[in-house]
Order: sequence, then C-alpha cells, then structure tokens
Amino acid sequence: MSTFLVTRTLPEDATEAALRADVLHGLNRTPKTLPPKWFYDAHGSELFEKITELPEYYPTRAEREILVARAAEIADATGARTLVELGSGSSDKTRHLLDALPALHTYVPVDVSESALTQAGQALIAEHPSLAVHALIADFTGGLTLPGTPGPRLVAFLGGTIGNLLPAERATFLASVRTLLSPGDALLLGTDLVKDESVLVDAYDDAAGVTAAFNKNVLSVVNRELGADFDPDDFAHVALWDAEEEWIEMRLRARSRLTVKIPALDLAVDFAAGEELRTEVSAKFREDGVRGEMAAAGLEMTHWWTDEEGRFALSLSMAR
Ligand code: SAH
Ligand code: TRP
Repeated sequence: MSTFLVTRTLPEDATEAALRADVLHGLNRTPKTLPPKWFYDAHGSELFEKITELPEYYPTRAEREILVARAAEIADATGARTLVELGSGSSDKTRHLLDALPALHTYVPVDVSESALTQAGQALIAEHPSLAVHALIADFTGGLTLPGTPGPRLVAFLGGTIGNLLPAERATFLASVRTLLSPGDALLLGTDLVKDESVLVDAYDDAAGVTAAFNKNVLSVVNRELGADFDPDDFAHVALWDAEEEWIEMRLRARSRLTVKIPALDLAVDFAAGEELRTEVSAKFREDGVRGEMAAAGLEMTHWWTDEEGRFALSLSMAR
C-alpha cells in the first residue's frame, strides 16, 4: 500500500511573517528587490507549468531529454532508496527517475507551494502503488530536517532552480545540502548552461506573455497577503542578460511615477518613472564552475550529462 503524508515545517503565520520581512526589507532598499519564492502561490505554480510548455522555454524539455537518457545510469550510480526533491513543483520530470530507481522506498518532495505538492503527491501515489510519499511544505534554504527514511539518499534539485539563488546564497545552500547527506549519498543537479543571448532572453520573455504574467504575479501575492494596492498593469516585464555575472535578470519596471500603499506594513513605497524592481536572477552555468562549487561544498562531481544540443546539464555529485 502506498502512503501519502504532508508535513508543514513552518506554521502559516511564520510564512506571513517571512513575507512581511522580505517585502519591508526589499522595497525599502535601492535597487528594490523581492525574493523569488513568493512567485509560487497556487496561481504562480500554474503559470510556471504553462512556462514549461512554451516554445521559447527550452530548459524543461532539455532536462527531460537527459533524464530519460540517463535515468538507468543514475539508478546504478546511486542505488537510491530515498529520493528527496527540492523545489519539486509538479514532480512531472521526476517520474522518469521514480520509474527507474528499482530500490526506491520513499519519495520526499519539498516545496513552498502547498497546492503543487498536494496535486503532485496524489497523482504519484495513484501511479506508484508501493511508494511512500512524504511531502514537506518547507523553504529549502531554511535548514531542512528530513524524515528518517532508508539510505542511500539521493537529493534532486532540478529545473535550474539553483540559478535563482545568488552566488553567496548558493554556497550556503550547497553546504546545507551537504549536511543532509552521508557518505555514499548523492546530489543530482539540473543547471541551465551559458549560451547565445537571444535564446536566453526569449526563454524569459516569451511572445505569449506568460512569463510577464508570472513575474507580475508576485505583485498580486503582496496585494492579497499584505493588502497592497499594486496595479500589475503599471509595470512592464523586463528580462536582461548580464554577461558579466552570466545570469538573466528579471525586473518589473514602473511605467510612470507612482506610490504603492502596503497597509499591513504601514508603508507607502514610491517608484520613480522607469524605476525597476528586481524579482529574480536565473544564473547560467559552465561545467568547471559547477564542479568547483560542488568541491567547495564537499561534494565530488562524478557525472556530467547534457542534452544533444548542449543547452542544459544534469550532474551527479557524491558525498564522500
Ligand atoms: N522542479 C520543477 C519546478 C521548478 S520551479 C521543474 O523542474 O519544473 C521552482 C520550484 O521551486 C517551484 O515549485 C517553487 O514553488 C519552488 N521553490 C522556489 N523557492 C523555494 C524555496 N525557497 N523553498 C522551497 N521551494 C521553493
Ligand atoms: N527555475 C526557473 C528558471 O530560472 C524559474 C523561472 C522560469 C522563472 N521562468 C521564470 C522565474 C520567469 C521568474 C521569471 O528558469
């Protein structure tokens, strides 16, 4: 019999306190910023799923191609009995792994989006009658405590989501992932690769405007949770390639001078005409860089796989 358990590691009022703190801090500084995890309420998670189907958004298809080609090798190299997935979303691509891991006992999807976790979990137990699914509603940057399940443990972090952390955050995050692993456990990491600027910009600024709607959804979250009066139409979606940092930067640009009231914070925030709020970076990687970041966190990269076109990479790194 399969089991499905959902654990909330943070009480809902702690989530609201974290949002307040992030908005207060992010909108009172120059340049203004908001952290990306607030994109993903139920509507944001749905919009992200639409992004993965866009012709311009190649990372999902490229990563799926690698997973399909390499799932058996991943199973052999890890022998995983527990699969933990950080930022699991719909767990759609993960199915290729679940199907390929013969010794798998428990799947632990971890996400801030409760709606994505429940939908994915219910679908998975229907498809995998002998699998235990223990979902965690948690912030993967916040020091996770995992359920005591059998090893070896494989932690998967797919979708290029690691690129949404800034370099210093990434180092802290990888060190904390390493503490979840025992010798012989592994990290499976999806990273989007540096490539032609126009391909990258189009992936984050699609013709149908889905990415623009996703970017602006963070304003609707602040409106709903903190009573703010952002009008999403007052802002334009901007996606820029920063060649120095090798990341795509997503911004919201005020179309005119305006003031936003945020009653829950007793705050009024002024935007100059053309002023930009940075909502997200999406860093792009190279093989040597990933190998180096793994080594710095105490992980040894043993496999590096790309799709046929060399757009995206999956790497496997072992804890020693
Ligand atoms: N892994 C999926 C989804 C990627 S989108 C894929 O490859 O398609 C990023 C996912 O990470 C979303 O589901 C979002 O809700 C989740 N997420 C973003 N920041 C998070 C955080 N700090 N802690 C936990 N989950 C987070
Ligand atoms: N992890 C995804 C990425 O960096 C998230 C993402 C895709 C995203 N499109 C976006 C985040 C647009 C913000 C805006 O590719």
